[in-house]
Amino acid sequence: RADSPVVVVANRLPVDQVTDPDGTTRWQRSPGGLVTALEPFVAGRGGAWVGWSGSAGEAPEPFESGGMSLIPVELSEEEVDRYYEGMSNASLWPLYHDVVEKPEYHRTWWDTYVQVNKRFADRAAEVAADDAIVWVHDYQLQLVPAMLRQRRPDLTIGFFLHIPFPPYELFTQLPWRSAIVEGLLGADLVGFQLPSAATNFVQLARRLHELPTRGPAIEYDGRTVIARAFPISIDVAAFDQLASSPEVLARAKEIRAELGDPDKMILGVDRLDYTKGISVRLNAFQEMLEDGVVEAPGTVMVQVATPSRERVEHYVHMRETIEQQVGHINGVFGSIGSPAVHYFNQSMPREELAALYRAADVMLVTPYRDGMNLVAKEYVAARSDHGGALVLSEFAGAAAELRQAFLVNPHDITGVKNQLLRALRVEPAEGARRMRAMRRYLVKHDLDHWASSFFDALRAQA
Ligand code: UDP
Ligand code: G6P
Repeated sequence: RADSPVVVVANRLPVDQVTDPDGTTRWQRSPGGLVTALEPFVAGRGGAWVGWSGSAGEAPEPFESGGMSLIPVELSEEEVDRYYEGMSNASLWPLYHDVVEKPEYHRTWWDTYVQVNKRFADRAAEVAADDAIVWVHDYQLQLVPAMLRQRRPDLTIGFFLHIPFPPYELFTQLPWRSAIVEGLLGADLVGFQLPSAATNFVQLARRLHELPTRGPAIEYDGRTVIARAFPISIDVAAFDQLASSPEVLARAKEIRAELGDPDKMILGVDRLDYTKGISVRLNAFQEMLEDGVVEAPGTVMVQVATPSRERVEHYVHMRETIEQQVGHINGVFGSIGSPAVHYFNQSMPREELAALYRAADVMLVTPYRDGMNLVAKEYVAARSDHGGALVLSEFAGAAAELRQAFLVNPHDITGVKNQLLRALRVEPAEGARRMRAMRRYLVKHDLDHWASSFFDALRAQA
């Protein structure tokens, strides 16, 4: 048994093992908000991180990286197919995001989900010191808390769900609903992004399992499990500093020049995921060009759509739709050397994203449903100049906190167009007032605040 006092367990390690065309392998940062938030936390504490390397086959040996002990867990091809692409991303992901796409349920996927969750629990049980704190993350590993408690009753176990948690009426579709609830109840503290998600969970425990509950407390198996909201955040100071560095500011200028010095630049940054509503913003922009309220290349849109879960069917279809849409808009409204939409199906480094945030007049974040959306918080953290405007979906967790954004209902295309136009035309003083208020909020509610609130609540349970 190693002696890590804090062990984080998440499906993905903070770095992915990638193989280049010449056969050499290297590590690169993994995509997504979970890694953005957890990496500085684990690195700051010298903790251990149990997770998957991102490729199928034998797992690399544990290694040290950036002040963390990384402990790779092996997944076979079949497990990637059934546990990761199947159960996690074609059953749970769409179910938990308001069934934006129809979830599929297969018993073979579930069996593999159970098997892989056991493996993660075993690895965590091996590396955690006596009486250590183990913090399990996200929808891929909802059975781990109970499995881990069975092996190591000495541990204090926390769980945090980074994505939404659905209401009773949706959750109960799941053929394995009871097993998931029991898996989560293995934790001492179950954290969610929003209070409504925590309430959904408590309600399930009461209605489905007939457990006694009182406020956030659930009585289960002679223990008290607490379910509460802890809205996640980013390292605001670090991001602010990065975005104000001379290199990033110079790059931001260069980006504007490369775009042909437009009057207005609209930006979207997302994993290419159907929950993110990328089509909504393309539709809105296209209609505005058609209506003549904006003109290209005076107004341009930049969309970073980072490749994600590329073998899952819904993702394949959505990519085709979006790329067709971009092609159509550029076909009609672009000219030689000046597309109206600059589309990137690539993963961008943080420095480049920071420069894009600094360059953009309007940041467009329009998910149909999103646990939090850290891109919205990064944009605000990047704007120490108090410039720029944020258009934000009401259905992102971040909308509960960033109240001075231009809030939109992504299902209402006219509403999105109106708010986008307001954001494009906002008076500088009014824009600065909104940005200042959001920044004031974020500085107080940063990553440290999130992690220490969770940890304080967890220790209180120990
Ligand atoms: N991100 C990145 N490179 C990219 C696209 C995104 O590093 O090309 C990062 C982005 O800066 C943010 C995270 O990925 O920190 C996305 O988090 P978010 O909560 O917005 O969405 P998620 O991908 O977790 O659904
Ligand atoms: C979201 C999920 C994470 C996941 C990330 C990237 O942030 O909450 O658990 O790691 O997306 O997705 P991927 O499937 O590539 O790990």
